[in-house]
Amino acid sequence: MKIKLTFLSTALLTVLLTTGCGDSGKTEGTATPPEAPAAKEAPAGNKAAATDAKATADAREIVIEANDQMKFNIENFDVKPGEQIKLVLNNVGTMPKFSMGHNVVILKMDVDAADFVDKAMNAAGTDYIVKGTEDQIVAYTKLLGGGETDTIVFTAPDAPGEYPFVCSFPGHFQIGMKGTMTVK
Ligand code: CO
Repeated sequence: MKIKLTFLSTALLTVLLTTGCGDSGKTEGTATPPEAPAAKEAPAGNKAAATDAKATADAREIVIEANDQMKFNIENFDVKPGEQIKLVLNNVGTMPKFSMGHNVVILKMDVDAADFVDKAMNAAGTDYIVKGTEDQIVAYTKLLGGGETDTIVFTAPDAPGEYPFVCSFPGHFQIGMKGTMTVK
């Protein structure tokens, strides 16, 4: 009797373990990414300022403002093919990043902006940039809370055309936080 019970328990355990493994395998794809470490509110821009000083000095500066009304102050800007650009994003609002974060994500020409932000919606842990989508992006700033700023330096694409830029914080693109970088 004792042997039979032990066997039964082992059999049950095996079934449970097998079922457990199967479940976790199935849900893996929909698991939300881990939250970014809290209180990572180091003064924005410090890291970017430390990037290649020569490239920064030669780059043409373009400043974009974002605010609590979910608007960028410009909807388009022009660059020359291959031009060095120093893009400054100023979040002139006062609301915190978790509820009113803003970034500027410049997408490659053939990327569907609506589709990109749709997928980014669940990527809170990586500031609404889905890991593995970097190949769809020309350049992007950090996600900023009110009063924060970030500066990035990048080389404009060689191919002339219209490149969409967006704020990838959930809902902001749909409200109009988007624009176009024209290479010409
Ligand atoms: Co935004």
